[in-house]
Amino acid sequence: MTSGNKKGLARGLTNYGDPAFSLYLRRSFAKSMGYSGEMLARPVVGIADSKSGFNNCHRHFPELIEAVKRGVLAAGALPIEFPTVSLGEVFLSPTSMMFRNLMSIDVEEMIRAQPMDAVVLVGGCDKTVPAQLMGAASADVPAVQLLAGPMMPTSFRGERLGACTDCRRFWALHRAGKVDSHEIESIEGNLATTAGTCAVMGTASTMASIAEALGMALPGSAAIPAVHADRLRAAEETGRRAAEMTQAPIRPSQVINAKSVENALRVLLAIGGSTNAIVHLTAIAGRAGIKIDLKRLNQLSDSTPVLVDLKPTGQHYMSDLYASGGIGAVLRELKPLLHLDCMTVAGFSLKEILEKQPAWVDRAVVKSFDDPLSKQGGLVALFGSLAPNGAIFKRSAADPQLFEKEGRAVVFASLDDLAARIDDPALDAKPEDFLVLQNAGPKSGYAMPEAGYLPIPAKLARAGVKDMVRISDARMSGTAYGTIVLHVSPEAAIGGPLALVKNGDRIRLSVKQRNLQLLVPENELQKRKAAWKPPASMPTRGYAKLYMDHVLQAEHGCDFDFLRKA
Ligand code: FES
Repeated sequence: MTSGNKKGLARGLTNYGDPAFSLYLRRSFAKSMGYSGEMLARPVVGIADSKSGFNNCHRHFPELIEAVKRGVLAAGALPIEFPTVSLGEVFLSPTSMMFRNLMSIDVEEMIRAQPMDAVVLVGGCDKTVPAQLMGAASADVPAVQLLAGPMMPTSFRGERLGACTDCRRFWALHRAGKVDSHEIESIEGNLATTAGTCAVMGTASTMASIAEALGMALPGSAAIPAVHADRLRAAEETGRRAAEMTQAPIRPSQVINAKSVENALRVLLAIGGSTNAIVHLTAIAGRAGIKIDLKRLNQLSDSTPVLVDLKPTGQHYMSDLYASGGIGAVLRELKPLLHLDCMTVAGFSLKEILEKQPAWVDRAVVKSFDDPLSKQGGLVALFGSLAPNGAIFKRSAADPQLFEKEGRAVVFASLDDLAARIDDPALDAKPEDFLVLQNAGPKSGYAMPEAGYLPIPAKLARAGVKDMVRISDARMSGTAYGTIVLHVSPEAAIGGPLALVKNGDRIRLSVKQRNLQLLVPENELQKRKAAWKPPASMPTRGYAKLYMDHVLQAEHGCDFDFLRKA
């Protein structure tokens, strides 16, 4: 049933063949929750709550949602929260990525099926914000994203620790025998100590920044720490704005367009953001019928400076970015490159927002356009015989000495093979080799986990090797770093060239030429292709089957084919 011009509880009535009866029944059941007639006559703001006991990053949502409700009520609407799927990054198997599209379907359908005139999307952990924005873009009901906000770093034995770049650093030291098991246990209790999302410019922080740059979150809200009182004030203001949008709607289709997506890409590059964000932004844009061309990404990357000095590539934490001016400071520096006429959920254009914002900036964290950390963006796409449809490389997190290099492939056929052999003292691997992981892409059966940060083989790590060229069709955590080629497409599990690489093959990487070549003669590749067999057995039922039947490759955002806008 369509909503027509109906508002509030009268939207989208349950169909009993008698609309007046449906409304009477709905109101009487709503009254069982103690609402007055005056409240039930108000426009409704839905609050999509992704709290879960399996999601540590969202543990402060009850307080945050109270603040949203306060704002909604103050502006004359009725707030009604509803639960959705929640994706706690480290609690899901095989990987949260498999369930991002499931959450997006849940969000889209519950926005559409339930009577709400606007919706506040409350999310934060890596996949939750992309899923909420994908769902909201498809439902196209006025929506505002409210972010969880980042965790605070913790002082520990003379240094600051924060999830989860420091997690990886200490684990690498533990693997190299430099941190013993007693010490790693103490560190484990001090890496993630507050509510909120990972404290560095990982995927969650990158997606928060993108939500603000796209215009889907309120200006200045992306970087506020989860436990800061400003986060609650932003929640109240978000509720107020959503209530205002029940009267003067601004729909996601008015905010997410080719220009705002390009602004978001500029910000992604300037903050040295996570490689995962390319996949997620591609999926969000795809729901609005916009295609992100990886060749265009390279053009933007060449002309967008890296401005933000945050871990994993720099020194600081998200709370430092907030204290230094937040994403507003980044947008002000990028102003000459941005499309300033983009509308935002604040009800103002980006130009108007940048004119209104206080101009405070701390140059220790946010560099100026004329004196950037790097003149070029943090991410590039590579193409070539090993990745005909593209691969992603985070040059800002990699060792420039490895950018122009030819190496011998040391191949792992799967994640299980990697786990079984990477620390084998007999592994034939040298520091100058390229580690290659096959069958970890979207259709591999592992659902493209964050396994692209292949560990340095233990015997090399103990000998002091800190980085090697690593290539896979997997993803990498936004908190990780290294000379790592990701998202190789087509993936190995569908017979892409990555599937054909054998131990000892030569591979050439040229970041300057955006090139990744498998140096094996074509006739030999044809022979290998003829002998190739798909590795994954196909699931026969349930969501796993839906996922496997419909998931697209990385350059299409790993969305389902039937969810993208034609
Ligand atoms: Fe939730 Fe890192 S685990 S943002």
